[in-house]
Amino acid sequence: ALVSMNEFLPKAKEKQFAVGQFNMNNLEFAQAIVEAAMEEKSPFIYGVSEGALKYMGIEFTVAIAEAAAKKSGLPIALHLDHGSSFEVAMKCIRAGFSSVMFDGSHYSLEENIKLTKEVVKAAHAMGVSVEGELGTIGGVEDDISVDEEHASLANPEEAIRFYEETGVDCLAIAVGTAHGMYKGEPKIHFDVIKQVAGAIPVPVVLHGGSGVKDEAIRQAVLAGVGKINVNTENQVACTNAIRETLSGNASVYDPRKYLTPARSAMTAVVQEKIRLFGSSNQA
Ligand code: G3H
Ligand code: ZN
Repeated sequence: ALVSMNEFLPKAKEKQFAVGQFNMNNLEFAQAIVEAAMEEKSPFIYGVSEGALKYMGIEFTVAIAEAAAKKSGLPIALHLDHGSSFEVAMKCIRAGFSSVMFDGSHYSLEENIKLTKEVVKAAHAMGVSVEGELGTIGGVEDDISVDEEHASLANPEEAIRFYEETGVDCLAIAVGTAHGMYKGEPKIHFDVIKQVAGAIPVPVVLHGGSGVKDEAIRQAVLAGVGKINVNTENQVACTNAIRETLSGNASVYDPRKYLTPARSAMTAVVQEKIRLFGSSNQA
C-alpha cells in the first residue's frame, strides 16, 4: 500500500539522506522510477502535478502508483505536487493519495499559514502527510511560471514560524534553485537551508532538482535537505531517447519501439539520483 512521507522522512532527517520525489507523467515514467528504486532498495515519492493529474486522470494515477507499491514492496508515497487549493488536496486524498503539497507561496505569509493549516488539519486526520512552501521558486512547471525577478528567497525566521504554526511534515523553501532546465548554474543558499533545517524537526525540501551539480546536491543534503524533486531531467531523457529512435528510423510505428529506450533512459537518471541522494538501501 502507498504510505505517508512520515514512513521515511524522519529517518532521512536523522541519517542525513534525501528521498527523491520523481514526477509521474505517464505509465512509462511510473515504471521507470519504480524499476530504479527496486534496484536501489530505496523509498521514493511519486510527485503528481495538477497538470499531470489532468493528463493521466486521477483514477489511473492512483491505480498505477498502487500497482508500483504492490509490485515493489517499497515504501512509496503518492504526493500531489504544488497543490493550489484545499479542494484539490481533498480530492486527491479521497482518491487515494498518501501525501499532498499545498503551495501557498504566492499568498501573504499570514494567508499561506492559514490555508496550509487547514490542509494539515484535514490531511493529518486521515494519516496523509503535507508539504508546505515558502518563498517563490523561479522557472516554469506546467501552468506555473515565475520569472527571475519575481523569484524570491525564503526568509529563515518566517520559515521557522511557518513550520511552528502549520505543523507541516516537510517544508519547501526557495533557496535559489528553479524549475525546468537552468540557463546558468543556480546559486544555492546553503546558509538558509542550514538555518531553517537546524531549527525545525522536519526536513527541508529542494524543488528544481534537475540540472543541479552533484556536489551542490551533496552539500544541500548535508545542510538539511531531506526531499529533492526531479521532473525535468526525466522529461529530457525520455524525449531525447524518443527523438533519437525516431530520427534514426523513419519506418517505426510501434510506440513500444521508442518508449522502451525512453523508459530505460529514465531508469538510468533515477538510479543515479537515488545514489546521489543517499537513499539506496533505506527502504
Ligand atoms: O515540483 C517539482 C520539481 O520541483 C521539479 O523540478 O523542473 O528541476 O525537475 P525540476
Ligand atoms: Zn516544484
